[in-house]
Amino acid sequence: MKGVILAAGKGSRLYPVTHHIPKPLLPLANRMTIEYAFDRLKELGIREVAIVVGENEESMRGALGDGSRFGLELTYVRQPEPKGLAHAVSFAKQFVNGDSFVLYLGDAIYSHGFQELAEKFRSSGCANLNVLKEVEDPRRFGVAHLEGDKMTKLVEKPQNPESNLALCGLYFFGPKLWEVLPDLQPSARGEYEITDAIQLMVDRGMDVRGGLYHHTWFDTGTLDSFLETSQFLAGDGLTLGDSADLAGTAGEHVVIGNGAHVTCALIEDSVILPGADVKVTGTIRRSILMGSVHADGDLIEQIVSQ
Ligand code: DAU
Repeated sequence: MKGVILAAGKGSRLYPVTHHIPKPLLPLANRMTIEYAFDRLKELGIREVAIVVGENEESMRGALGDGSRFGLELTYVRQPEPKGLAHAVSFAKQFVNGDSFVLYLGDAIYSHGFQELAEKFRSSGCANLNVLKEVEDPRRFGVAHLEGDKMTKLVEKPQNPESNLALCGLYFFGPKLWEVLPDLQPSARGEYEITDAIQLMVDRGMDVRGGLYHHTWFDTGTLDSFLETSQFLAGDGLTLGDSADLAGTAGEHVVIGNGAHVTCALIEDSVILPGADVKVTGTIRRSILMGSVHADGDLIEQIVSQ
């Protein structure tokens, strides 16, 4: 089995930070986001991994190289424009070369591995198995309907969801996926959706299954979810990187990256990226800061800074 990580999105919900650092390279608890994906794939015995990249290709190659540092063989595949997850995966067809593969959405973080679901995929011989999780508000996700463990219907971000089972960003595929991709039409939002591709597989009578994930899953795409994930991974206290320092008081959940210097009255629930130089007279709260941030004022809050 091989691995394919989709990492070509623009990360626009974390602009301007993601103008400078691609989202998959953003540090969470002082490790790059994508390293957590590497862990999950390696646990499944996967060594060959393709990363689908876009405009971020150069920085991604620079930061990750051939993968040997992570115990992986990395291949980079370029998606010319971010036109949807099914469009992105289509560029990995040659790499997968008829094998089975795990499709991993680059901004997902999972607390536990997928060994049991991988075994279920293998032993059932099904065409595709999708990892699902019950969520409170399914309207932000692809939503699935199950009969037993067979998947009968999938809808991408429905207004009126008929179930609370979200597709949570990890999919096992056999080679039958490639049969349906050429017939896929763009969705209402103009993207080639992986959810619609899987629906086509269901429509054509292929054996499509779902498997529930009972652990913690984060989609790290927004400021709120990024900070929540960071707190989960780094813990409630202060995490100081190598040669980093803080002159000021740390409240709950503060991560200060390698070589960053921070001066402020109080800092809480914030991530300071490596090398940043931050001097603020008042409080920093719920922010991701990078580069040089010098501000006079009582409060910096809910900020994603350059
Ligand atoms: O988070 C789970 C959800 O992920 C699923 O429930 C949805 O069914 C699925 O469509 C997806 O929805 P999102 O709208 O959250 O996907 P997003 O645009 O955030 O892209 C997910 C990852 O894929 C992200 O790491 C960037 C990458 N990507 C995205 C697009 C649109 C690409 O590599 N190429 C692309 O064209």
